[in-house]
Amino acid sequence: MGEILAYWRWRWQAAGSAACVAFDEGLGVDTAGWTLDYEPAAIADVEEILDHLGDRPDATFVDLGCGKGRVLILAARRRFRRVVGVEIVPSLASTARWNVQRPDALRRSHDIAVVEGDAGALPLPLGPLVLFLYNPFEASIVASVARRAGAVGATIVLAYPREEKALLDAGFREVARRGASDLFDDWRVYSTMP
Ligand SMILES: C[S@@+](CC[C@H](N)C(=O)[O-])C[C@H]1O[C@@H](n2cnc3c(N)ncnc32)[C@H](O)[C@@H]1O
Repeated sequence: MGEILAYWRWRWQAAGSAACVAFDEGLGVDTAGWTLDYEPAAIADVEEILDHLGDRPDATFVDLGCGKGRVLILAARRRFRRVVGVEIVPSLASTARWNVQRPDALRRSHDIAVVEGDAGALPLPLGPLVLFLYNPFEASIVASVARRAGAVGATIVLAYPREEKALLDAGFREVARRGASDLFDDWRVYSTMP
């Protein structure tokens, strides 16, 4: 019973809570809700992860499977060189593109883009990378991304750390985590750097 309650609390925080509604209404964007394809990360969790990452003015922040772009909006308020979203579902990519261009979605990283396509097939951007994954796809695609990111050096955030093995197999090691009582409340950060 405890696990079921934790699951619904987690989904509510991410997709329908007062904080989500205030975020969307305040910025004039549409990031809430969930479907079979889409479920946004909870705002408080993403802010906590971004606080942990700190300023990375040389790095490109990439949300692989960016959905409607909530994480892009939050990341673009921090100091990254670029913020990029990759999304395979055309309607979600188009909503994300619309969201990040809303005038009230205040941003510090002015270079922000949404690419429609399969994160497993698209090349990664060049330069230092921070990759954000909120449970977007199966292990084989995570493994392919991790191999390519590992070859160039990167930081990878798993906001739902189910596919950790793919990262460890590609030479990443865990550098930070919020270890909670269950997978829903967990996030972990991995790096190839010493
Ligand atoms: C759980 S949602 C997370 C959305 C967003 N990252 C957030 O946290 O608000 C996962 C997203 O990954 C997308 N996705 C699934 N497979 C993908 C792929 N191969 N390439 C790009 N995006 C993909 C889904 O369409 C969905 O929007």
